[in-house]
Amino acid sequence: MPSALITGGNRGLGLAWVRELAAEGWRVYATCRHPAEADALHELSRGHGDVTVMRLDVTSTDDAYAVRRALGDTPLDLLINNAGTYLEKGEVALGRLRFDDWLHTFAVNTLGAARITEALVDNVARSERRQVVFTTSHMGSIADIGWPGDYYYRSSKAALNALARGLAEELRPRGITLCLLHPGAVATRMGGPESSLTPETSVRAMHGLIDRLTLKESGRFFRFSGEVLPW
Ligand SMILES: NC(=O)c1ccc[n+]([C@@H]2O[C@H](COP(=O)([O-])OP(=O)(O)OC[C@H]3O[C@@H](n4cnc5c(N)ncnc54)[C@H](OP(=O)(O)O)[C@@H]3O)[C@@H](O)[C@H]2O)c1
Repeated sequence: MPSALITGGNRGLGLAWVRELAAEGWRVYATCRHPAEADALHELSRGHGDVTVMRLDVTSTDDAYAVRRALGDTPLDLLINNAGTYLEKGEVALGRLRFDDWLHTFAVNTLGAARITEALVDNVARSERRQVVFTTSHMGSIADIGWPGDYYYRSSKAALNALARGLAEELRPRGITLCLLHPGAVATRMGGPESSLTPETSVRAMHGLIDRLTLKESGRFFRFSGEVLPW
């Protein structure tokens, strides 16, 4: 059975990934910051799925290597860097920039994905599928910027895109396929209730997309529906 590790697996898109893969018989390592509060994950792990709940704050190198030690030599077919944050409350503009919030956004959205990939890449390399997903956003596309604001989030995802593009080349010789996925506008705590997609619909589409992905397409930036997005 293939195995996957998901960051931010306790709610939103991360929880939908855990549900989707567990229902298809995958072994799922569902990571989250606060396992004691992750009721939905514990319910899944008590049910029929093969779900292991693990503590992982993506800003913590200690956490990342504790997960690596717990996994040992276990192969990971799919690593989904999903955890993300959006801290721009109200209008963010010159004169109102909160640099601590900006730094934290980078720590989670950009450095977090790098940290977890660095810690777990050998487990991915040991697997059959060898896939790494970076959950990005169309808002990380510089070509998409047509209005002011969202500086913390946009720049953190643009930097994630640049990181992923280079990492895809570093990992290609090891047979690891890395892709950037924009999940669409999804009704989660981050996306808000008015967003058009459910987490389940978005995840199902992204799952279909990565099932078809080949090493040749490593480093590409896709919308959940399969369209290639501009940088
Ligand atoms: N929803 C959308 O419309 C949309 C659009 C484009 C891209 N995305 C991207 O999709 C991904 C998932 O977003 P979502 O919509 O599911 O958001 P969400 O419902 O707000 O969930 C965010 C998840 O990230 C976790 N997280 C935050 N900081 C973390 C940290 N330091 N360490 C580990 N986990 C952390 C949260 O855990 P806690 O519960 O502990 O806070 C939560 O599980 C993000 O990368 C987001 O940027 C979403």
